Amino acid sequence: MKHEVKCVPLVSRRKIEVAVKRLADRLNRDYQGKHPLLIGVLKGSFVFMADLSRLLDFPVEIEFARLSSYGRGKETSGKVKVVQGLRTPVKGRDIIVIEDIIDSGLTAAHFMEYLKKRQPASLKLCALADKASRRRTEIAIDYLGFPVPDKFLVGYGLDWDEKFRNLPDICALEEDGR
Ligand code: IMP
Ligand code: MG
Repeated sequence: MKHEVKCVPLVSRRKIEVAVKRLADRLNRDYQGKHPLLIGVLKGSFVFMADLSRLLDFPVEIEFARLSSYGRGKETSGKVKVVQGLRTPVKGRDIIVIEDIIDSGLTAAHFMEYLKKRQPASLKLCALADKASRRRTEIAIDYLGFPVPDKFLVGYGLDWDEKFRNLPDICALEEDGR
Protein backbone atom coordinates (compact mmCIF):
# COMPACT_ATOMS: atom_id res chain seq x y z
CA MET A 1 0.00 0.00 0.00
CA LYS A 2 1.31 3.42 -0.88
CA HIS A 3 1.87 5.65 2.12
CA GLU A 4 1.27 9.32 1.41
CA VAL A 5 2.76 11.93 3.71
CA LYS A 6 2.98 15.67 3.23
CA CYS A 7 5.49 17.88 5.05
CA VAL A 8 4.32 21.47 5.51
CA PRO A 9 7.10 23.89 6.60
CA LEU A 10 6.31 25.39 10.00
CA VAL A 11 9.52 26.74 11.56
CA SER A 12 12.29 27.64 9.14
CA ARG A 13 15.96 26.90 9.79
CA ARG A 14 16.52 30.66 10.11
CA LYS A 15 13.87 30.96 12.84
CA ILE A 16 15.31 27.93 14.61
CA GLU A 17 18.78 29.48 14.46
CA VAL A 18 17.54 32.71 16.02
CA ALA A 19 15.76 30.82 18.82
CA VAL A 20 18.81 28.65 19.55
CA LYS A 21 21.04 31.73 19.68
CA ARG A 22 18.63 33.43 22.10
CA LEU A 23 18.65 30.36 24.35
CA ALA A 24 22.45 30.20 24.25
CA ASP A 25 22.68 33.90 25.21
CA ARG A 26 20.51 33.24 28.27
CA LEU A 27 22.47 30.14 29.27
CA ASN A 28 25.75 32.04 28.80
CA ARG A 29 24.51 34.67 31.25
CA ASP A 30 23.12 32.16 33.78
CA TYR A 31 25.99 29.66 33.83
CA GLN A 32 29.06 31.91 33.86
CA GLY A 33 31.71 30.39 36.12
CA LYS A 34 29.91 27.03 36.23
CA HIS A 35 30.51 23.82 34.33
CA PRO A 36 27.15 22.15 33.94
CA LEU A 37 26.31 18.75 32.56
CA LEU A 38 24.02 18.91 29.53
CA ILE A 39 21.87 15.82 29.24
CA GLY A 40 20.20 15.34 25.86
CA VAL A 41 17.15 13.12 25.63
CA LEU A 42 17.69 10.77 22.71
CA LYS A 43 17.16 10.70 19.94
CA GLY A 44 15.24 13.86 19.12
CA SER A 45 17.55 16.32 20.88
CA PHE A 46 20.69 15.46 18.95
CA VAL A 47 20.54 18.29 16.39
CA PHE A 48 19.44 20.89 18.94
CA MET A 49 22.16 19.74 21.35
CA ALA A 50 24.82 20.02 18.64
CA ASP A 51 23.80 23.56 17.64
CA LEU A 52 23.12 24.87 21.15
CA SER A 53 26.23 23.44 22.79
CA ARG A 54 28.50 25.03 20.18
CA LEU A 55 27.22 28.49 21.13
CA LEU A 56 27.96 28.08 24.83
CA ASP A 57 31.00 29.92 26.15
CA PHE A 58 31.38 28.14 29.50
CA PRO A 59 32.82 24.64 29.94
CA VAL A 60 30.20 21.93 29.43
CA GLU A 61 30.02 18.17 29.59
CA ILE A 62 27.64 16.30 27.32
CA GLU A 63 25.60 13.21 28.18
CA PHE A 64 22.67 11.49 26.58
CA ALA A 65 19.87 9.45 28.08
CA ARG A 66 17.51 7.19 26.26
CA LEU A 67 13.90 7.13 27.41
CA SER A 68 11.14 4.85 26.17
CA SER A 69 9.80 6.25 22.93
CA TYR A 70 6.60 6.48 20.97
CA GLY A 71 7.68 3.77 18.55
CA ARG A 72 5.61 4.12 15.41
CA GLY A 73 2.74 5.95 17.06
CA LYS A 74 2.03 9.64 17.29
CA GLU A 75 0.69 9.56 20.85
CA THR A 76 2.57 8.90 24.05
CA SER A 77 1.73 5.63 25.77
CA GLY A 78 1.81 7.51 29.07
CA LYS A 79 4.38 5.02 30.32
CA VAL A 80 7.90 6.38 30.40
CA LYS A 81 10.99 4.36 31.18
CA VAL A 82 14.64 5.32 31.36
CA VAL A 83 16.01 2.77 28.90
CA GLN A 84 19.63 3.87 28.88
CA GLY A 85 20.68 5.72 31.99
CA LEU A 86 23.64 7.95 32.63
CA ARG A 87 27.29 7.11 32.89
CA THR A 88 28.21 10.48 34.45
CA PRO A 89 27.24 11.02 38.11
CA VAL A 90 24.57 13.68 38.62
CA LYS A 91 25.02 14.26 42.35
CA GLY A 92 26.19 17.79 43.13
CA ARG A 93 26.25 18.82 39.44
CA ASP A 94 24.43 21.63 37.68
CA ILE A 95 22.23 19.77 35.22
CA ILE A 96 20.53 21.11 32.10
CA VAL A 97 18.18 18.67 30.40
CA ILE A 98 17.96 19.24 26.65
CA GLU A 99 14.69 18.18 25.02
CA ASP A 100 13.48 18.60 21.47
CA ILE A 101 9.80 19.09 22.23
CA ILE A 102 7.48 18.94 25.23
CA ASP A 103 4.12 17.45 24.28
CA SER A 104 2.14 15.73 27.06
CA GLY A 105 5.05 16.57 29.36
CA LEU A 106 5.13 13.00 30.72
CA THR A 107 8.58 12.14 29.38
CA ALA A 108 10.27 15.26 30.72
CA ALA A 109 8.38 15.19 34.04
CA HIS A 110 9.41 11.60 34.63
CA PHE A 111 13.02 12.24 33.69
CA MET A 112 13.26 15.38 35.87
CA GLU A 113 11.98 13.31 38.84
CA TYR A 114 14.51 10.56 38.05
CA LEU A 115 17.31 13.15 38.08
CA LYS A 116 16.06 15.00 41.16
CA LYS A 117 16.36 11.76 43.16
CA ARG A 118 20.05 11.73 42.26
CA GLN A 119 20.56 15.05 44.07
CA PRO A 120 21.97 17.47 41.50
CA ALA A 121 23.10 20.92 42.72
CA SER A 122 20.60 22.42 40.27
CA LEU A 123 18.29 21.04 37.62
CA LYS A 124 16.83 22.97 34.66
CA LEU A 125 14.88 22.01 31.57
CA CYS A 126 15.71 23.48 28.16
CA ALA A 127 13.35 22.58 25.32
CA LEU A 128 13.33 23.80 21.75
CA ALA A 129 9.57 23.52 21.19
CA ASP A 130 6.50 23.47 23.40
CA LYS A 131 3.15 21.95 22.38
CA ALA A 132 1.46 23.37 25.49
CA SER A 133 -2.12 22.58 24.45
CA ARG A 134 -1.35 18.85 24.77
CA ARG A 135 -0.05 18.94 28.34
CA ARG A 136 -1.13 16.10 30.65
CA THR A 137 1.09 16.98 33.59
CA GLU A 138 2.54 20.13 35.04
CA ILE A 139 6.09 20.84 33.94
CA ALA A 140 8.21 23.98 34.12
CA ILE A 141 10.27 24.71 31.01
CA ASP A 142 13.11 26.93 32.25
CA TYR A 143 14.49 27.68 28.80
CA LEU A 144 12.12 27.51 25.83
CA GLY A 145 12.81 28.06 22.14
CA PHE A 146 9.27 28.62 20.86
CA PRO A 147 5.68 27.39 21.23
CA VAL A 148 4.26 25.20 18.45
CA PRO A 149 0.67 24.32 17.50
CA ASP A 150 -0.90 20.91 18.10
CA LYS A 151 0.44 19.26 14.97
CA PHE A 152 2.76 16.31 14.53
CA LEU A 153 6.15 17.77 13.72
CA VAL A 154 9.25 16.39 12.03
CA GLY A 155 12.69 17.71 11.20
CA TYR A 156 15.58 19.21 13.16
CA GLY A 157 15.86 15.96 15.13
CA LEU A 158 12.14 15.18 15.34
CA ASP A 159 11.04 12.00 13.64
CA TRP A 160 8.10 10.07 12.50
CA ASP A 161 8.87 6.35 12.45
CA GLU A 162 12.61 7.24 12.59
CA LYS A 163 12.34 9.28 9.42
CA PHE A 164 12.76 13.00 8.70
CA ARG A 165 15.14 13.74 11.63
CA ASN A 166 17.60 15.20 9.14
CA LEU A 167 15.32 17.90 7.70
CA PRO A 168 16.85 21.32 8.47
CA ASP A 169 13.43 22.97 8.99
CA ILE A 170 10.61 21.88 11.30
CA CYS A 171 7.61 20.73 9.30
CA ALA A 172 4.12 19.57 10.13
CA LEU A 173 3.48 16.05 8.95
CA GLU A 174 0.13 15.48 7.35
CA GLU A 175 -0.87 11.94 6.59
CA ASP A 176 -3.80 11.14 4.35
CA GLY A 177 -6.85 12.22 6.28
CA ARG A 178 -5.18 13.86 9.30
P1 IMP B 1 5.74 13.86 25.80
O1 IMP B 1 6.13 12.85 26.83
O2 IMP B 1 4.32 13.63 25.32
O3 IMP B 1 5.94 15.29 26.27
O4 IMP B 1 6.59 13.62 24.52
C1 IMP B 1 7.90 13.89 24.52
C2 IMP B 1 8.65 13.25 23.37
O5 IMP B 1 7.82 12.73 22.33
C3 IMP B 1 9.49 14.29 22.72
O6 IMP B 1 10.75 14.38 23.36
C4 IMP B 1 9.60 13.80 21.31
O7 IMP B 1 10.70 12.93 21.16
C5 IMP B 1 8.32 13.06 21.07
N1 IMP B 1 7.38 13.96 20.38
C6 IMP B 1 6.41 14.71 20.90
N2 IMP B 1 5.76 15.41 19.97
C7 IMP B 1 6.36 15.11 18.80
C8 IMP B 1 6.16 15.54 17.44
O8 IMP B 1 5.30 16.36 17.09
N3 IMP B 1 6.99 15.00 16.53
C9 IMP B 1 7.97 14.11 16.83
N4 IMP B 1 8.20 13.68 18.08
C10 IMP B 1 7.40 14.17 19.06
MG1 MG C 1 12.36 13.51 22.65
